[in-house]
Amino acid sequence: MKSKRSFSLLFFMFLLVIVFVTFSIISVEARKSTNMRKKLRKRHKDDHGSNGHTRGSHAPCPAPLPNPIQENIFDVLSFGAKGNGVSDDSEALVAAWKGACVVAGATVRVPAQHKFLIKPVILQGPCMPDLTLQIDGTLLAPPDASSWPKSSLFQWINFKWVQNFTIKGSGTVDGQGYNWWSSSEFYYIQKSYSKQIPGMKPTAIRFYSSNIITVRDIKIINSPLCHLKFDNSKGIKVYNITISSPENSPNTDGIHLQNTHDVEIQRSNIGTGDDCVSVQTGCSNIHVHHINCGPGHGISLGGLGKDKSVACVTDIIIEDISMKNTLYGARIKTWQGGIGMVKNVTFSRIQVYDVMYPIMIDQYYCDKHVCKNQTGTVVIAGVKFDQISGTYAMQPIYLACSNSIPCTDVDLTDIQLRPSLKHQGLQQAVCWNSYGKSQGPLLPSSIDSCLRSGGGLIKRIARSHDRVCY
Ligand SMILES: *[C@@H]1O[C@H](CO)[C@@H](O)[C@H](O)[C@H]1NC(C)=O
Ligand SMILES: *[C@@H]1O[C@H](CO)[C@@H](O)[C@H](O)[C@H]1NC(C)=O
Ligand SMILES: *[C@@H]1O[C@H](CO)[C@@H](O)[C@H](O)[C@H]1NC(C)=O
Ligand SMILES: *[C@@H]1O[C@H](CO)[C@@H](O)[C@H](O)[C@H]1NC(C)=O
Repeated sequence: MKSKRSFSLLFFMFLLVIVFVTFSIISVEARKSTNMRKKLRKRHKDDHGSNGHTRGSHAPCPAPLPNPIQENIFDVLSFGAKGNGVSDDSEALVAAWKGACVVAGATVRVPAQHKFLIKPVILQGPCMPDLTLQIDGTLLAPPDASSWPKSSLFQWINFKWVQNFTIKGSGTVDGQGYNWWSSSEFYYIQKSYSKQIPGMKPTAIRFYSSNIITVRDIKIINSPLCHLKFDNSKGIKVYNITISSPENSPNTDGIHLQNTHDVEIQRSNIGTGDDCVSVQTGCSNIHVHHINCGPGHGISLGGLGKDKSVACVTDIIIEDISMKNTLYGARIKTWQGGIGMVKNVTFSRIQVYDVMYPIMIDQYYCDKHVCKNQTGTVVIAGVKFDQISGTYAMQPIYLACSNSIPCTDVDLTDIQLRPSLKHQGLQQAVCWNSYGKSQGPLLPSSIDSCLRSGGGLIKRIARSHDRVCY
């Protein structure tokens, strides 16, 4: 009886021991894995922290990490920028860029309430995907044209070979172009008397050979020359930006595209001393919409074919645009003597207010008083002007196509243009060598007989010209 009871007591104690041992093993394991996670987190911090030290080699991170957002921010202030608008912060910006470039999903931060003086810089890729430049403060270009490094007169901030990249933020990129603008007047006067060649001027932001780029929300102001330029690039989105410089700033295009494909520019305000959007040679599949444009020279394709060059521009849609007090509205301009083709272009739903020349094709474009007459032209085929309405100050429609090869398939649909109070020019639509059709409500009524109809042979000749483009 006694031995039976002591046996069950022993058995009970044995069970207790087993339970205790199991529990301790589990808890030791748990503690081990917590330590491991802590270590990993620490290593990640050392790798990515924005402390300005050179980061070591990048071991692949084995576990998903908590709160990656803070750790992927590269603030220019942490890289030695002063942010006082006077000290040169270029090196800090480049260092922050280089740090962020090697981390996927990283952000270079230009913080609010600071001004950063930046000399001409190259921010180069390729970088890891999803890099962002967050501009909440202000980037200032050197204010003095004479001290600008002569080796980089082409642009101020140059993004090169960048992919899958975004610029955003509530900040401002200020090209401080005042000195440059007045110097161009000086050069212009010099040119007419002693043939001095005008000096080069820098574009504010240039993307060269870059793909899948978004630029949104920021302001770009007072560029010495063009404000935002893309060349040899593809897959561009521009959204909700503001570009401005004074009306009397020469050659300060808003957005300038060259050899660039698959572009959408939308919901932005652009007012400068030149074209709001300028589409140059080698561009295709460009969609520009919901833009407030003015002051400036409107939205234009060209000048194309300068010095007998080849120009190819295709598949362009410009729509839902408001233009106020611009020199031109919807415009295509080519130099005499060029080669190539402009085709499949639509200008649609364009509202104009006090625009000098709302609709223009000029195949005699010339930056001097007289240019030599030349045979050969960049051929223009398939251009629709649709729902263009509002007021003009000089002349409602001016289509001057080449003597060598006329424009074909030019369509004018639903055009309603009235002279503005400032009107002091022609009320007639003027068309030269333009084939196409007009329909819908047309005002002034002279539009109706402006275009020539037919021209089957000419169309075939025109079409043969896109061979140089493809
Ligand atoms: C970068 O690529 C990723 C994956 O393709 C995509 O989700 C992201 O939107 C891209 N980022 C930009 C800025 O285009
Ligand atoms: C447009 O940009 C401004 C200025 O950065 C910002 O405040 C606003 O939220 C943006 N709007 C949209 C719809 O993204
Ligand atoms: C004209 O261009 C538009 C916009 O890029 C495109 O969707 C359309 O297919 C083109 N039409 C022709 C006939 O190529
Ligand atoms: C060019 O041709 C036009 C029209 O044929 C003519 O009026 C003009 O005087 C010519 N210009 C020059 C510079 O030869």
